[in-house]
Amino acid sequence: MKNILSPSILSADFSILGQQIEEVDKAGAEYIHIDVMDGIFVPSISYGMPVIKSIRNTTKKVFDVHIMITDPIRFIEEFAKCGADIITFHYESTDDPMAVIDKIHSLGIKAGISIKPGTAVDVLEPYLDKVDMILVMTVEPGFGGQSFIPESIERVKAVRKSLDSKGLNTDIEVDGGIYVSNVKDVLEAGANVIVSGSGVFNGDITTNVKEFMNILDNKR
Ligand code: DX5
Ligand code: ZN
Repeated sequence: MKNILSPSILSADFSILGQQIEEVDKAGAEYIHIDVMDGIFVPSISYGMPVIKSIRNTTKKVFDVHIMITDPIRFIEEFAKCGADIITFHYESTDDPMAVIDKIHSLGIKAGISIKPGTAVDVLEPYLDKVDMILVMTVEPGFGGQSFIPESIERVKAVRKSLDSKGLNTDIEVDGGIYVSNVKDVLEAGANVIVSGSGVFNGDITTNVKEFMNILDNKR
């Protein structure tokens, strides 16, 4: 499977956001991870449609939009219009995950489903063959810069095992507390789409992306 780096712009310097997106793009990242938070599903608010729309002009890379919002179906169409290529919503944020997946697909874009660290991986079972990506959160969603939850490794392995048993090679994304120092562990567990905010935007961005890409390419 292809390993992909998805830098989370939540840790970027917003006064020069466009420039920093161009830098991760040039350095080799393939996705741009965009965290949308509503202050209800998670205890913080980030940014929304106007920001996504304006940064759409800065790169052609894949916009990997992670929506941490209650009742996400309300906004799927707008996120699609802003230029999202993948929309990942939370299993816990809706009564009808299947309707959200169908809505995303009806707009011609990829659908991801995410679970928080406390949600049993088994809940994903009915959706495994319906989605393009599964996001296993490796911290509680809401903030950048938190520590990786070690139990996540077993959770990623369990999801990869279920996918394998169904003959599916769906992408597994991991998000939270991932750095050059621990990325190997999540790759070995079966994740292939790697989100990193602090690990990319703190320090020298180009060096960080290149270090990640070296590991990702060698594990392919
Ligand atoms: C947290 C967000 C993450 C966050 C990751 O709710 O979903 O994408 O930006 O940040 P780091 O990599 O700093 O843990
Ligand atoms: Zn995220």
